Amino acid sequence: MVQSHNNLFRIQDLRRSYAHEFCGDGPRVVVCHALLRCKCHIVAGFDKLALRKALSATSEKAKLSSASQSLTVQSCIYSITVGVGITEISHRSADANAILANAKSGLCQLLDIPESTGPEGYEILFLQGGGSGEFSAVVYNLISVWVGEQVKALGVDGSSAEGLQQLQRHVQQELKMDYLVTGSWSLKASQEAARLAGAQHVNIVTDSRKHRDGKFGVIAESSTWTPTLGSHKPAFTYYCDNETVDGVEFRSSPDGHNLVADMSSNFLSRPVDVRKHAVIFGGAQKNIGTTGITIAIVSNRLLPPHASLASPELLREVMQRLLAKHLASAGARIAGQHAESNYKAFLLYSALDKSSVYHVVPDKSVRSRMNICFRVKGGDESAEKEFLKGAESLGLTGLKGHRSVGGIRASSYNAVPIMAVEKLVLYLEDFASRST
Ligand SMILES: Cc1ncc(COP(=O)(O)O)c(C=O)c1O
Repeated sequence: MVQSHNNLFRIQDLRRSYAHEFCGDGPRVVVCHALLRCKCHIVAGFDKLALRKALSATSEKAKLSSASQSLTVQSCIYSITVGVGITEISHRSADANAILANAKSGLCQLLDIPESTGPEGYEILFLQGGGSGEFSAVVYNLISVWVGEQVKALGVDGSSAEGLQQLQRHVQQELKMDYLVTGSWSLKASQEAARLAGAQHVNIVTDSRKHRDGKFGVIAESSTWTPTLGSHKPAFTYYCDNETVDGVEFRSSPDGHNLVADMSSNFLSRPVDVRKHAVIFGGAQKNIGTTGITIAIVSNRLLPPHASLASPELLREVMQRLLAKHLASAGARIAGQHAESNYKAFLLYSALDKSSVYHVVPDKSVRSRMNICFRVKGGDESAEKEFLKGAESLGLTGLKGHRSVGGIRASSYNAVPIMAVEKLVLYLEDFASRST
């Protein structure tokens, strides 16, 4: 497969139709194209190995983007200018606090997070434990908030044996956690809640498998959902904004009391109505930075007054701070990143829809912009092997679908440049033309 002029022209056509379909307003497209130029420029600044890495675009974990690679260098420069290694300074020092404050303010700008210290504000926590750690943290913390509210509402004396019994009975009868199960990760989160608190306290508001032959790939109409009703609200309502394994993404955030969102795989890829949420969390490794940091944005309403909670690893902080700065300084911000994510998804889905060789797994209405899941020749094992082998020979690696579902998955996280997606599109077209 080579990048012929014809192919290049076809991509230009796609860009034009994309501009019509997704980005009616000119400036967004301009931002998107400016970003493309900026990214090409960054890529061009690296050696051949870096270029090859940038082109092998579609790994499941976001490889360090050209931006993040340069951030590593900048982190070292930071160490040199400060005079000590970034991991050598005290995590309670003024320097460390300044780094944290910068990281937080970058995120606040990007996601329009209210910075107030009052109940309308949010705390940003940098935590260890990965996205999965938050499955448990959400349960522990939000149940304790709920119980505290019940103590007040019932007026029970929590220090007397009688009061405790009354409270226990109440919790047994009334505690519910609402889960929207729309894919493998929200399923796992609901199972963790059942393990920690008891299955009787987990209310499955919707289970997408019931609406599609036992498999994930749709989000049922909200009119079919069964949220906890009645005088006692659920402790929280949980959903996963982008299901990484199944390629399913919410078009907009659902409604629910104390809304909790797992945004591990679509963080910073579009604007989010933070104010609608009690908690938003996500592992940083896909869309923001590297493994080892989980970001939690938590409403002040839910937090006790505290001093400094976290002592994260500073190198990663610096990288994330600089990545936030990079997004901002590229003029991209969230609107630009949103446009770019939409554009990349548009390129891939257009190529897939054009050929009967491919079949996109999730329903059109919920297709993820981040994880594009599809089958080759109806899931024929040897055809999919051949597809993967051909892709790898071109440096297009990491396209194998999650082991639990098989097939092909192209992950188009924030760090994946448009030119890498274009390279995959050319391969999709080439493979299809050879297969029909
Ligand atoms: C949507 C989502 N949630 C949670 C997780 C689990 O994150 P971690 O591996 O950091 O525990 C993942 C990991 O891929 C994910 O994609």
